[in-house]
Amino acid sequence: MEIVHTPAAMSAWSRAARDEGRSLALVPTMGCLHAGHLSLMAAARQRADLLAVSIFVNPAQFGPDEDFAAYPRIFEADCQAAEEAGVDVIFAPDVSAVYPPGFQTMVRVKELTKGLCGASRPGHFDGVVTVVAKLFNIIQPQLAVFGEKDFQQLAVVRAMVRDLNFAVEIIGSPIVREKDGLAMSSRNRYLSPAERQAALCLYQALQWARRQAAEGEQDCGRIIAHLTTAIADKPGVRVEYLEIVDNSDLRELEILTDSARLIMAVRIGRTRLIDNGALFPARDSKIITTQGAT
Ligand code: PAJ
Repeated sequence: MEIVHTPAAMSAWSRAARDEGRSLALVPTMGCLHAGHLSLMAAARQRADLLAVSIFVNPAQFGPDEDFAAYPRIFEADCQAAEEAGVDVIFAPDVSAVYPPGFQTMVRVKELTKGLCGASRPGHFDGVVTVVAKLFNIIQPQLAVFGEKDFQQLAVVRAMVRDLNFAVEIIGSPIVREKDGLAMSSRNRYLSPAERQAALCLYQALQWARRQAAEGEQDCGRIIAHLTTAIADKPGVRVEYLEIVDNSDLRELEILTDSARLIMAVRIGRTRLIDNGALFPARDSKIITTQGAT
């Protein structure tokens, strides 16, 4: 496995792979790799000859009061995990190589970023799609895998690729959870034992909503009202948003449909956690998991 630190070296590596006629998949990450990231790598590995993973804690997607400085960085352990996952190259640039002096261009996806995480984290998705666009241009992968864990991010990246004619196929990969249902996240390590226990409210909410849906409840408002109260009753937990949306365009739904998805963000102490899931997992065939290259 190679480790490259500059955009020029990364582009040269990809060019050599292309010249040999080998296809390349990319999994963009901010490091602190866990089983969720590794599942994306496994999905990518199956679909291309070569696998690149980027590890870059992207300052452009953190707000001024967010955890950019404190974000966990464990580069050596990440390299070892990536090597074991069969990664061919790690791209780990410095901030100054990605945003050199004079940098002044941002990409913005307008509508899809207005609600949900976009509403509580102004500018966050501009930072995400800008760095993803740069990674695509530097690495030029044929496909890239993103987790459904960040469901809005996946939708926003798909929109960016479609709108700007990037020739890269976007693949969505399911959420990997701990045994007790908590979605894996680099931020789970911030949780105290009591907060870790409280964090189960997210998965419990999803399971409760799925049961309601299976029993014939159709009114999204009733489900949301119940869950908002149930979560607000947990000590130390604050709901940031809790919505039922359509899988494809994140439009808020009033009546449940086959493509309905519960999507939520809470704060537990100082930690912000997100989760989501289809309310009819068995009928969820409408989810578009790939998007063809242009
Ligand atoms: P990061 O939070 O490191 O996540 C990298 C990828 O792993 C994302 O596509 C995310 O959805 C996926 N992921 C995280 N936890 C997961 C889980 N439990 N199950 C499945 N997939 C999971 O998301 C980012 O970094 C950044 O915004 C990035 C896209 C790299 C741009 O900076």
